[in-house]
Amino acid sequence: MSSSSDALVAGSIPRLPTFGWHALRHSRRLPLPTVLDLPHRTLTTSGRAAIVLALRVLQVGPGDKVLVPTYHCPTMIAPVTACGATPVFFPITPSGDADIAWLERQDTRGVKAIVAVHYFGLPLHFAPLRAFCDARGIAMIEDCAHALFGECDGRPIGAWGDVAIASLTKFLPVQECGVLASRVLPVPALAGASRSFAHEVKSGIDMLEIGCRHGGLPPFGALLDGLFSLKRRLRRTQLTTATETIEAPPEDTQWLDAALIDTPPTTVSRWCIRASLRAAVIERRRANYQRLSALLADLPGAAPLVPDLPAGCAPYVFPLLSERADERYRALRASGLPLFRWDWLWPDTPHIPGDHGNLWSKQVFQLPCHQDLRDADLQCIAATVRQVCQTWPA
Ligand SMILES: Cc1ncc(COP(=O)(O)O)c(C=O)c1O
Repeated sequence: MSSSSDALVAGSIPRLPTFGWHALRHSRRLPLPTVLDLPHRTLTTSGRAAIVLALRVLQVGPGDKVLVPTYHCPTMIAPVTACGATPVFFPITPSGDADIAWLERQDTRGVKAIVAVHYFGLPLHFAPLRAFCDARGIAMIEDCAHALFGECDGRPIGAWGDVAIASLTKFLPVQECGVLASRVLPVPALAGASRSFAHEVKSGIDMLEIGCRHGGLPPFGALLDGLFSLKRRLRRTQLTTATETIEAPPEDTQWLDAALIDTPPTTVSRWCIRASLRAAVIERRRANYQRLSALLADLPGAAPLVPDLPAGCAPYVFPLLSERADERYRALRASGLPLFRWDWLWPDTPHIPGDHGNLWSKQVFQLPCHQDLRDADLQCIAATVRQVCQTWPA
């Protein structure tokens, strides 16, 4: 939790939730279903590992095709090629739904599965896509990386897909973890060896170190933070966190660590997930989203993509649609604000007429709205965005 005293510095705002005592308070009774409640589930080290395992459950392999959206991050596509399958890109509509009319015109022989995403944590209407998949014999992977909680057309989130995946670092204060789950299909337990004791200890220390950095562990936080800073100085390392993985250019980034696909997450991460799965995660994200929507309502040349937060969801980020996108994005990143956009596309992602995926990859800025942001953080985000929009008028 960042304190209000440092909240006026855009670079001090955490991109993702951080550990602290506050994460353990509040009610355990969740007001919405979660992917973690689906009848069949297994925890993985990441969402991308869960996609590989989902493809294995669906027996996708070399020679098969997998439909994937043009609006994506490479971590969603790398698992497809890792299985030896070929990604086939489909366009999305202005609501983020798969363009079913386009899909229906395609020859889908050889297509074994589709990856469909609830972007930004705002559940889409998957009934038409489910009907398309059933008619063509295509399996659906419901990508809930952005939507750990929610309901979707009368079903719990994750229940429209043959299998679902989620990415827990986006919602809970863990440094690793995803989930593979299904309403209908059994999912296997992971076959890899458990993590070593040293790894468990490191995982716990990392979690505490990041929590201390953001003031989440009073009254010991300042003392521990001092010790952690000393450790970093002696080792000449910097604090790297799941919240700080956005600078590396694509060619330097390993999108998928094969060694971690079958490896179970640490016991520390499992404990943290059980302990921090609280109602406040949903309530605060909703409140923060609505507050940002109000603060960013009248920007010059930019507007909330979905100004009215739908019921029945817990947003991952707040999507802002902006003109002068390149200049503004560069300026916002230079300010230190932990926002990002999906402009690193998989090679050969096509331009399809009428597609909104290409547009969104440039023009949609994903702003944080997670549970550990306080009002001062939200005001800082809004003030920084407003200033940049004024400096680069539409
Ligand atoms: C839609 C979507 N799916 C899957 C993933 C992969 O999740 P992870 O980062 O936990 O591997 C991401 C990551 O950002 C994502 O945005």
